[in-house]
Amino acid sequence: MKLKILVGSMTHTADHVAQAIQMECADLADPVEVEWMDGLDIHVFDAEKTADVLFLVCISTYGAGDVPDNAQMLFQSLETQARFLGHVRYGVLALGDSMAHAQTYGFGGKRFDERLQDLGAQRIGDICFLDSSDGTHPETSGAQWCRAWLKYALPQASASGAAGPRS
Ligand SMILES: Cc1cc2nc3c(=O)[nH]c(=O)nc-3n(C[C@H](O)[C@H](O)[C@H](O)COP(=O)(O)O)c2cc1C
Repeated sequence: MKLKILVGSMTHTADHVAQAIQMECADLADPVEVEWMDGLDIHVFDAEKTADVLFLVCISTYGAGDVPDNAQMLFQSLETQARFLGHVRYGVLALGDSMAHAQTYGFGGKRFDERLQDLGAQRIGDICFLDSSDGTHPETSGAQWCRAWLKYALPQASASGAAGPRS
């Protein structure tokens, strides 16, 4: 099963996390693809295109709890072009800063997750928060979390026929 990491980022931290996952988790998912959210809309989740795909939304937070600029179009289209996404299985890596932005910590990931759930998509596992103020390396923490996550998410996604076209 393929892991497709959708990256929402302003200053590349989320991209570095996604790249670390691509390197560290190549033995677990085949292949691991990294795609920036720029230019994407809800069609990235079309059932015909996503047979055998597990998604990972890897996204930071900007403004006052907003998704990054490059994620806006996809985020908006989940509302303006809303459709049922019950075939989608996904996880969320939410980057943020709990010290500087306590009130909106990780809201980019949380808001994206809420919108996907509203459309029937099913998150596997809890959201993983990566805090830029906790002194850890997000690439290391993110890749460690992802290895553990994939070990239970991939069998669940396969068993549910994740993302396979409906007959
Ligand atoms: C202008 C600005 C606004 C931010 N707003 C938030 C916020 O509302 N909530 C939060 O948790 N983090 C916030 N952050 C922190 C970033 O989300 C965090 O540093 C993240 O690791 C950046 O990832 P990126 O380089 O992939 O964009 C903000 C950072 C900046 C520079």
